[in-house]
Amino acid sequence: MGLKHQSYKTSSSSKLFSIRSSTILSITLFLASFVYFFVPVQHFPEPLFWVDQEARFTGDLRDAKFPWNKLCFGPASENLKLAVFSKTWPVLAAPGGMERHAFTLYTALAARGHEIHVFTVPSDRRPHQDIHQGSLHVHFAANDHGSVNCSLAFDIFNKENMAGAFDYVHTESVSLPYWRAKMVPKVAVTWHGIWYEIMHSKLFQELLSNPNGQLPGPMTELQEAMPRLVDEIRFFTSYTQHICISNSAGEILINIYHLPPKNVHVILNGVDDTKFVHYPEAGAQFRQNHGVSANASLVMGVAGRLVRDKGHPLLYEAFSAISKHHPGVFLLVAGSGPWGKRYAELGPNVKVLGPLEPSELSEFYNALDVFVNPTLRPQGLDLTLMEAMHCGKPVLAPNFPSITGSVVLNEGFGYTFSPNVESFTEALEAVIRDGPSVLQRKGMACKKHAISMFTAAKMASAYESCLLQLAGRLVE
Ligand SMILES: *[C@@H]1O[C@H](CO)[C@@H](O)[C@H](O)[C@H]1NC(C)=O
Ligand SMILES: *[C@@H]1O[C@H](CO)[C@@H](O)[C@H](O)[C@H]1NC(C)=O
Repeated sequence: MGLKHQSYKTSSSSKLFSIRSSTILSITLFLASFVYFFVPVQHFPEPLFWVDQEARFTGDLRDAKFPWNKLCFGPASENLKLAVFSKTWPVLAAPGGMERHAFTLYTALAARGHEIHVFTVPSDRRPHQDIHQGSLHVHFAANDHGSVNCSLAFDIFNKENMAGAFDYVHTESVSLPYWRAKMVPKVAVTWHGIWYEIMHSKLFQELLSNPNGQLPGPMTELQEAMPRLVDEIRFFTSYTQHICISNSAGEILINIYHLPPKNVHVILNGVDDTKFVHYPEAGAQFRQNHGVSANASLVMGVAGRLVRDKGHPLLYEAFSAISKHHPGVFLLVAGSGPWGKRYAELGPNVKVLGPLEPSELSEFYNALDVFVNPTLRPQGLDLTLMEAMHCGKPVLAPNFPSITGSVVLNEGFGYTFSPNVESFTEALEAVIRDGPSVLQRKGMACKKHAISMFTAAKMASAYESCLLQLAGRLVE
């Protein structure tokens, strides 16, 4: 018995994306933009392109254009034997970024009963014993420099495949290189960032760092982006199935990379929602511990590496502009990097906290009225936006398609801006105009949305269903 007769019911607070053709989509969006301008509503006119939330999805799931996170599946009736190629595996206490994502996902899939074999190297690039925990097996295959030795990894893979054939192979980006992927028919790749998006961000960085074209010629990275993109479009066809982490990346893979729609799937990232929770008392304590005045009118916060391409020059300028007219507004800066010193120059309303322990992060988010993410890198989806939303905080982020199409879907969840100082300053002014009580209301909407879409459990369940479907195991 497979899951064929199970109904794919949408989760209670989500709705289904019902239109497949990108042409119809463009027309709908076009019309929607008119409605948006002429109808005085707070939210996007969802009914135009979202069907009723009670609707059930009935077609072939491979044709689904909405994120798999929206579907509610019961426990899987079949277990998969899954091979995973990943650049690194975390061996330290506090994994970051990609490692944290890989650890969360494969631990969850193994816990659901699937036999998972990860071919990778330890994140600290030192020798470690392979890991065998229940049905999770991590095989380390390093070369002398500590990165993955592909031939070695493939040897171990073949041995394991001989002992019992894998149902499917999953690679995190190009961890399984394309010339080897060609030899593996049942392979799905997850793209965490694609060159089309990188080109988009390099363009903005160029315009921002060289507004009047005084510097000679565009920056090298921008010049290199187009050949890299052409190259990428060519080799992507070596992989059979593609998973991407935002709706907009899915559209690009179909419309620009010309991949068959039935081979493109969207699975949004999820974070551990037991670690990131709404806890106002902890937030108040955090404010007090870090010297935020009790009469602060509004507290904003930013977290991550304090470097140029994370948009700190923008925030620095915009915040110095608004703080002149709004002396009660505070900014908490978590993280380290060259821009930490500059922020410290902005006076007593800016608190530079340095890097926070993972256990302090949730308290930090809870101390805020709004979480600000000024990033100039649209590739991938920043987990911090999702973490802040789980803590019940609205977010302020650039209007990159990956963000507006998958995270800050409408103004009920926060604010977006074009990546330039004027637009950013206007958005900050809007936040201040709305004030703490409106922000709190938006924060609760964020929390509800995050729980319905961005949890580690939702992500694991979406991967499970997607891979079962691709392996042909969702049918009897
Ligand atoms: C990679 O592994 C193969 C054996 O599988 C070995 O012959 C080769 O020397 C290794 N390469 C490096 C750079 O460690
Ligand atoms: C907040 O209170 C302090 C004294 O505790 C005072 O100096 C300051 O001007 C007040 N700020 C605002 C924005 O009211």
